[in-house]
Amino acid sequence: MFTKIKSVGLLGLESYMIDIELNITGGRFMLDIVGLPDTAVNEARDRIIAAINNSGLIMHLSSHFTFNLAPADVRKEGSLYDLPMAIAVLSATKQIIGNYKEAVFIGELSLSGAVKSVKGVLPMVIAAKENGVKDIYVPFDNCQEAAIVEGINVYGVESLKQLVDHINDIQRIKPVELIPFRHYEMPEHLPDFKDVKGQLEVKRALEVAAAGGHNVMMIGPPGSGKSMLAKRIPTILPDITVDEALETTKIYSLSGNLSKDEAIINYRPFRAPHHSVSPAGLSGGGTIPKPGELSLAHNGVLFLDELPEFNRSTMEVLRQPIENGTITISRAACALTYPCSVMLICAMNPCPCGYYGHPTRMCSCPKGAPARYLSKVSGPLLDRLDIHIEVPPVDYNQLSDKEEGESSASIRERVNKARQIQIERFKGTGITCNAKMTSSLTRKYCQLSPAAEKTLQASFEKLGLSARAYDKVLKVARTIADLDRSEAVENKHILEAIQYRSLDRKFWKA
Ligand SMILES: Nc1ncnc2c1ncn2[C@@H]1O[C@H](COP(=O)(O)OP(=O)(O)OP(=O)(O)O)[C@@H](O)[C@H]1O
Ligand SMILES: [Mg+2]
Repeated sequence: MFTKIKSVGLLGLESYMIDIELNITGGRFMLDIVGLPDTAVNEARDRIIAAINNSGLIMHLSSHFTFNLAPADVRKEGSLYDLPMAIAVLSATKQIIGNYKEAVFIGELSLSGAVKSVKGVLPMVIAAKENGVKDIYVPFDNCQEAAIVEGINVYGVESLKQLVDHINDIQRIKPVELIPFRHYEMPEHLPDFKDVKGQLEVKRALEVAAAGGHNVMMIGPPGSGKSMLAKRIPTILPDITVDEALETTKIYSLSGNLSKDEAIINYRPFRAPHHSVSPAGLSGGGTIPKPGELSLAHNGVLFLDELPEFNRSTMEVLRQPIENGTITISRAACALTYPCSVMLICAMNPCPCGYYGHPTRMCSCPKGAPARYLSKVSGPLLDRLDIHIEVPPVDYNQLSDKEEGESSASIRERVNKARQIQIERFKGTGITCNAKMTSSLTRKYCQLSPAAEKTLQASFEKLGLSARAYDKVLKVARTIADLDRSEAVENKHILEAIQYRSLDRKFWKA
């Protein structure tokens, strides 16, 4: 007896269709699985036998079962083939009748026959749809994430018995209702920018950064509000687009970071790993590598507080991905590439005691200590941060001021308007913000007025900017002009952008 059931496989974010072939011959009971299965797939044998028996169905123990997971040259990972393999057994032994051969099945089985959730359902459902599949059966706990995909019937399955009754037309399962995309509504209780007294220049710099997706370095003495400001950045980030939300949700689905009742990540993620994070924690890792913090922050913010406390090797992991927007992780089994288009925000003190360059307090560090401390942040990494901003200490008058600052909501409104201009500008290029412009797009969209050109030339020579810094100044100036609703990049825009590159001269003496 031979039968074939469809399923989907995942390698990183790449998915492919899988045929679960089953051949049953007579003889002593044996259950073999071929086609590059990993241990979890191999262990399916015990789960399938128990689940079938405990669902009131029959597992013929006087036959030889051979499963082949095709294509056989791709490694199959995890327990998601339990369900299609069980369906193949029931199909070959004529315990199910009905229309299921063109459908796709994914799900892990418990010994009792319950269907348990698996990782990566969203990318798999999208792949199935792209391959023309009409019906897909997924674990009930994963059906929310699958319900955002249009054009395919998604069925949430709680148990093997329930699925068998559905296929045999005894009791049908209703397909999941499509969940339309809705923008995230900022909850009222979140920390707000209006709580931060003074720091108008820093707030402005963060607004520019949020509008254009630029990387930021904040440097300042202890207690000046760096962490406080960073915590409020999610409240001023622009709305995530539908495509960005889908991409980010795929990563969360794959890494098992999507909660049961969360259909889609409809906000820009904000990840703030502790400085003890390992390079693999940041980049992603494992035998078959899973996404790390960098990819979990895709289309959102990666915040590194107390930057010099991070391991040097951890910091250096950032260099290429920050520039490319993707990270490739190579392991013996395979090399996988994940997207990581992030806005990197870093905060740090200027020296171990924290008061180097302070207007009123003396730095108590031994000679040379501030330079050593600052040198922990390498030049190439610093160069990748578009906006450098000093967070000065707040004085008593500012702190005791009873008047509230501008709210996050009103800053976000401006940010959203400026981002909308960028989305229109880059339509069809796959880019949604100024920070991610390629060199040729930068040349095209950052044409300077003659006065601005002159200013930039003078500053370039005076500040000794690198070629990368030159590009970054142009991109930041483009964002400032967008916030100003100005088509042209004028002198005032370039002046402000240059000001965001002068800080490294004060501390790093570049
Ligand atoms: N501008 C400000 N307005 C209102 N409160 C502030 C401001 N700056 C600092 N604070 C208060 O000081 C506390 C400490 O600030 P925060 O932790 O952000 O400092 P920091 O710059 O991150 O310091 P460190 O360098 O030590 O990490 C805040 O929780 C807040 O209560
Ligand atoms: Mg802090």
